[in-house]
Formats: sequence, C-alpha cells, structure tokens
Amino acid sequence: MFSRYKKQISDTAAKPQKVDPSPAAKPAPVKAESLRKPALKQAATAAPMDKERKRKERLGQIKVELHRELLDNLNLSALEHASEAELRAEISEITTEILTEKSVVLNREDRQTLNKELYDEVTGLGPLETLLQDDSVSDILVNGPQQIFIEQDGKLSLSDVTFKDERHLMRIIDKIVSAVGRRVDESNPYVDARLADGSRFNAMVPPIAVDGSLVSIRKFKKDKLAIDDLVNFGAFTEEMAAYLQAAVATRLNVIVSGGTGSGKTTTLNALSSFIDNAERILTIEDTAELQLQQTHVGRMESRPPNVEGKGEVSPRDCLKNALRMRPDRIIVGETRGEEVIDMLQAMNTGHDGSMTTIHANSARDGVSRLENMIAMAGIEMPLKAVRSQISSAVNVIVQASRLQDGSRRMTSITEITGMEGDVISMQEIFRFQRVGLTPDNKIIGHFTATGVRSHFSERFRLWGYDLPTSIYEPTVMEKF
Ligand SMILES: Nc1ncnc2c1ncn2[C@@H]1O[C@H](COP(=O)(O)OP(=O)(O)OP(=O)(O)O)[C@@H](O)[C@H]1O
Ligand SMILES: [Mg+2]
Repeated sequence: MFSRYKKQISDTAAKPQKVDPSPAAKPAPVKAESLRKPALKQAATAAPMDKERKRKERLGQIKVELHRELLDNLNLSALEHASEAELRAEISEITTEILTEKSVVLNREDRQTLNKELYDEVTGLGPLETLLQDDSVSDILVNGPQQIFIEQDGKLSLSDVTFKDERHLMRIIDKIVSAVGRRVDESNPYVDARLADGSRFNAMVPPIAVDGSLVSIRKFKKDKLAIDDLVNFGAFTEEMAAYLQAAVATRLNVIVSGGTGSGKTTTLNALSSFIDNAERILTIEDTAELQLQQTHVGRMESRPPNVEGKGEVSPRDCLKNALRMRPDRIIVGETRGEEVIDMLQAMNTGHDGSMTTIHANSARDGVSRLENMIAMAGIEMPLKAVRSQISSAVNVIVQASRLQDGSRRMTSITEITGMEGDVISMQEIFRFQRVGLTPDNKIIGHFTATGVRSHFSERFRLWGYDLPTSIYEPTVMEKF
C-alpha cells in the first residue's frame, strides 16, 4: 500500500520558478535558426523503400490467393477443436503445397511471415493481430484499409501494417462484431464491442466513414498502472498521492475529469486502490475496463440495444439497480448522460466515497458539463438548485491531461467547497505548472501546491489521515 504520509520536502527544494508571462517580449537576441522547429527526419532513401514495398505487395497478393485457397481446403468445422500447433502445421502444409503448385519460391523469412499472417487471418483479426499482441501498443486507430496508426508511449505513429482493401477490413470488423451478436452495415453504421481480450472496440463504416471504415481500439492493459507507477511516471507526486489517499479513504466523492485518452480510467482505477477492502463496491461501465483489487466487487456492464432496437440496459438502469444492491461505494466508469442525476443523488444520499469520470478540460468545465447533462436529461430545475446539488455531491475534481509531448499528468486537484450566491466555489490545491518546451518538444514544468489548505483537512485528521501542513506549501514538488 502506498505510504500514507509524504516524504518531507527538503528546505533546499527549489523555489517556485518564476514564469515569464511574455517570453516573446524578451529583448535577448535569438539566432534565426533557433526559432525554427527541428526539421522533420528525411525519409529513408527511396530505392530500398521501393524494393521493400514491392516485396510486400507481392507477399500481399500471394497471401490473398492463399487465404482463399486455404478456406477452400481447410475443414472449418474442425478448426475450433484443432490445437494451435496442429493448425499451424496444417496451414504450413497447405501453403507449401499451393506454393509448389503455383511455382512460387519464397525465402524462409517470407514463408514464416506468410504462415503467421495466414494463421492470424484464419483464427484471429488478420493484420490487427500483430498489433494486438504487441504490449507496447496502447491504441490502434484504423483510417481505412491503408492507414493504421498506433499509439506507443503516448505518441501516435503510422504502423507498417495495412489491410488489403476495404473488403478485407470489413470482413475483420464483421468477424469482431458478429462475435458479440451485433451487426454493422449501412443501416447500423457504427458499433461498440469488446474484444475477447477485453480491449475496447469501436467501428464506423461507410458511407458515414467517408474514406473507408474507421476503427478505434483501446487495448486492454493486463497490468493497470498503480499509484506508485503513476508517481514514478511523473503523473503526480507523492504529496498529491497522499492527499488523494486521504480523500478516497475518508469517503469524499471524487470525479476524474479529462479529455479523450488522458488517463481518466487509469486514474480512477489507481484511486480505487485506496478503498478499504471491507467495503462493498459496485462498478458500472460501458465496457468493463476497471480492475479493482478489492475482494468485494460487483461489476456491471451496460448494454446497447440490439439490432431490433431492443434489450438496452443503460448505465442509468444499472445505477438505479445498483442502489438496491446495498453498495458502500459506487464507481461509474464514465458519466455522460442522464445517469448523472442518479449519480449525484447517490453521492448525496449515503453512498459517499463514490467516483466517476467525465469528459472535460478543467474542473470548472467539468461542473458546467454536469450542469449540461442535468439539463439534457430533461430535469426542470432552477440553475441554482442544480448547482447546489452538484456542490453538495462532488467534493474533489481531479484533472487528468494528455500533454502535447504525449505525457499524461494530473494537471490539477480542485476541491468544491460550497456555494457563494449562485456560483459554486472551488479551490485548487495542487497543479502542474508549465514553464516551457525543450528543443525536442518535451514539456518543462513542475508540480506545486497552491498554498491553499484543504477544506477537508479537519475531516482527514478525524479519520486518522493527519496530513502535514507542509504538503500545502507552494514549493516546487517535482520538476520535469
Ligand atoms: N500517467 C500515465 N503514463 C503513461 N501512460 C498512461 C498514463 N495514464 C494512462 N496511460 C495510458 O494511456 C492510455 C489511455 O488511458 P485511459 O484509458 O485511462 O484514458 P481515458 O481518459 O480513460 O480514455 P477514454 O477517454 O478513451 O476513456 C492507456 O493505454 C493507459 O495505459
Ligand atoms: Mg476511459
């Protein structure tokens, strides 16, 4: 378990760096070149690339032909019972036969690649299979058959994997969605599904997707990042972790806010580790991603309507039902619709210590999002009443951000302290202060407390989480 108290900040810690509000106004002479971004790397010389491309094209052609012939030759009903080794041997045998028949000569390496790709094609998700098996890949984004982007270490790059054509891509999409009893076609052009390994899958097909089907896969991470990992990665500091531990353990209601892929689910999952093992936790998600370490966890997954538009179980239905299941805490993977009403009510009525995430760019923006969601849910309530409901339900908003250099950091921890007139009052306790950019586009910055003491410090103390006041001092905690 994470150590409860922060390590002492040494007096020698650097003072907060002064940020020059207008660096451009500095009269210091700057060489013309230094203003320019470093030039993009030149593409490798054309000739080998061409050769490589031709080789790939040829392999691709052979593969398509072989795949067709394989499907004719393989006994598909026996496939399910065949072991992996048997199937690989069978595929290798049939390909050798067909290649010999066609008098195609391939070197050992190409033959192995071909066999692997054919195996993936027959049993798995074709070209996607290699990327799914590569643990360094966190997201796979397909923009039509020829363009597959991957995210590694927070950075997007174009992979060298492609589909043969749109039909090939559609076949793989069909394979995925039909496995979960859904359908995707012109009349249902988009679909959510979960892959067998737990990865989140979304596809949108033409004509809504203009240049070919769009597929987004968020890979399921077997080992979710724990608090210690996040501290080590510089997502937040030990002081912030100690604060968050106090907040979660003393049952404050916490919302993790952030943009797409900013690390909301990861943060929520890590925060849940501070919940006492004796508590009964119920989780509600669209796609079960959370992996709680506690023993007493009831997991729910909402369900969209089926092809006939029936059978939907919305997050709100799950939440309403969860309230009848004697939960100590409720964790909703993401609040984005009418379930907000029940979420806030649960937070206000005894299920304190509940947590969720929302899609927003700052704590203030997060509150506006909540207000909008309530309005969209058709609840006729004066704005002041809505705000008062929010302010008494939500205690802490943690902002997760993916910065432009691909790093993910907790850029702010803000408390909601009540209402002042018609306005919800908030105070920021910790923040990530950006200072500049290195020549290779890495963000320079540091975490700091704002100097404001937590509104809940007395509560923390009474619950046995007596955080030293020094953690609220506005010194530089960790520099990057
Ligand atoms: N601090 C971090 N350092 C490195 N990688 C991280 C960090 N936080 C999250 N990640 C990785 O970033 C990816 C996205 O994280 P996560 O699923 O938590 O984001 P999200 O905000 O919930 O996304 P979405 O909006 O799509 O639900 C995951 O692969 C996760 O492992
Ligand atoms: Mg998420």
